[in-house]
Amino acid sequence: MLEVRLLQRELRQHGETLEARVRTRTAELEASYLEMILTMTRAAEYKDQDTGAHVHRISYYCCEFAGKLGMDAEFSQRIGVASPMHDIGKIGIPDLILLKRGSLNPEEWTIMKQHSAMGADILGASVSPYVQMGAEIAQNHHERWDGSGYPKGLRGEAIPLAARIMNICDIYDALRSRRPYKPAIGHEQSVDIIVKGDGRTSPGHFDPALVASFQGNHALFRDIFEAHIVPFAGA
Ligand SMILES: [Fe+2]
Ligand SMILES: [Fe+2]
Repeated sequence: MLEVRLLQRELRQHGETLEARVRTRTAELEASYLEMILTMTRAAEYKDQDTGAHVHRISYYCCEFAGKLGMDAEFSQRIGVASPMHDIGKIGIPDLILLKRGSLNPEEWTIMKQHSAMGADILGASVSPYVQMGAEIAQNHHERWDGSGYPKGLRGEAIPLAARIMNICDIYDALRSRRPYKPAIGHEQSVDIIVKGDGRTSPGHFDPALVASFQGNHALFRDIFEAHIVPFAGA
């Protein structure tokens, strides 16, 4: 009897050790996997000096904002990992266009717009749920609620939620950032532009439910922007 009990205990302990080892290995795999995604994103954004900080902020806005919208932890974490890949398709855009100082002519603009589909192409084959969401965001992050976006001119809920979240976060961050053709805009004014429009940005571009939540949680965006102005190490 004693022997059987000892054996049983040994077996249980062995099972527990094995389980712990699997857990550690899975966590290690997950960590190196996420690191690889970030590295890939950095490689794609390498040419643009500010994007290191930009993609970092995008990750935080998307993750936190998804939580405020009532999405579960899995979705929020996933969009936090997936959203920095949104512009990865720019890797396929010629430097002459990507790095052009002045504004793009219509042909150049047509080529520039292809970064959405190229991004979806690059990411689309992956079986990883993170990269799959990345592909969905890459494909749709320039679509607008009122159908005036690209590449397909999708409207309303035909645009995946992750891309709708990404779009509003991207626009907020672009407004706050200095560009060769525009100064950085303050927080209050950026919120105002998203909520009321400024001629180029119109509230019709965004999901009304998201605009309402953005307005209610605008301080979150300010805090994230201010905490991550400097590009993260290695960017
Ligand atoms: Fe883009
Ligand atoms: Fe962006």
